[in-house]
Amino acid sequence: MSLTFRDILHLRTHDIASETLGELIAGAEAVALLSGAVESGIIGALSTASSSQQIAIATGLEQEQIDGVLRALEAYGLVKQRNGIYNLTTHLKLLTSADAPNPLINTLRVTNIRMRNLTNLGNDGKDYTALQSYEVLSIAQGIISALSLARSFVGAALGNMMPEVKKLWQAGACHLESGCGVGNNLFQIVTTYPKVTAVGVEIDAETANEARRRAVFFGVTDRVEIRQMDACTLTDEAVFDTAQWSQFFFPTVYRGAALRALFKALKPGGYVFMPLLLAVSGNIWAYRRDMLRMALRILKSEPLIALVFLNAILLTTPARQRAEKRLSSLQELVYRAWGIPAKTAKELQIEIEGSGFRVLRTIPTPASRVFPVRGFLLAQRI
Ligand SMILES: C[S@@+](CC[C@H](N)C(=O)[O-])C[C@H]1O[C@@H](n2cnc3c(N)ncnc32)[C@H](O)[C@@H]1O
Repeated sequence: MSLTFRDILHLRTHDIASETLGELIAGAEAVALLSGAVESGIIGALSTASSSQQIAIATGLEQEQIDGVLRALEAYGLVKQRNGIYNLTTHLKLLTSADAPNPLINTLRVTNIRMRNLTNLGNDGKDYTALQSYEVLSIAQGIISALSLARSFVGAALGNMMPEVKKLWQAGACHLESGCGVGNNLFQIVTTYPKVTAVGVEIDAETANEARRRAVFFGVTDRVEIRQMDACTLTDEAVFDTAQWSQFFFPTVYRGAALRALFKALKPGGYVFMPLLLAVSGNIWAYRRDMLRMALRILKSEPLIALVFLNAILLTTPARQRAEKRLSSLQELVYRAWGIPAKTAKELQIEIEGSGFRVLRTIPTPASRVFPVRGFLLAQRI
């Protein structure tokens, strides 16, 4: 049978269709390649310029294999090579530096967990608490790190976005975090406001232990207590002036009990804030208006942080908005796989008010890759 012109055209259309998918596959494979290079120590060895022989000695892998990995990394523009000496690109150097807000190794580990969850959509009713301990720890470490240069930025930004809370922190409040992970926000707060004493509650043992290690690292063990327990079983009554509820890590079955325990633990009039996973406003103009309002609100108290909000306005291109849309659609799926509803600000408000809190306001924050949070909801125990 001889080929027809139609057959050739048909093949060509398949070729074009495969190219679209090819770009996505190349991205996913590059993440896998980079993950392998990080976990095997190749990227670590490249923190100083090295030959493939030096990397083979440092990692214990065969030089031939190293050569292949380095060639692939170079082809993806992740490393540079001159006269057989390899170097990380400037961006990779930044992401692997000790003070990176989102260290590369954590970003990749979380990405791989998310990809596994997205692949396994027919999940059998398991939730976040069914994740392996190393996964919970990786996710907690994948959040903007208190060990990084962003520590005082986040501490100051939280205070400036919530002046009523900042006042209490400056005076020496007792702060609670329900679901503290490795304590990124907790340490950002206690190191920025040295009179604050804090309790962090974390259900996962390894993650709680890492938070305790970090309390030692920051020299704040006299002001910070980490309790490894289910936040739903907290029995403190009217003890805390302020609290954070890391709500988008609490599966549906835990939420009601966690909120009841949190309500009791706060003093009457005490404040609770919680991060929002989804943007407060999806519309580009509403988002720009929100950023401008926030910038003007904090311009006097913290002009440098106001600049971050102003910069967010400049960055709102249609391409970025499309990227945000893609990200939030995946967030909803990943969190659903963890049994956690990705609530809008309005839905969260209804949930919080159903537990007796009074919602004061939503606080939109700039959309960025570094900061996974898209805003906060501030409420008060009445
Ligand atoms: C990832 S952390 C949040 C991050 C934190 N705000 C920070 O800045 O690092 C959220 C944590 O809540 C914990 N968590 C979820 N349900 C919990 C519960 N019922 N009791 C205590 N901790 C819980 C998860 O194990 C997770 O480590």
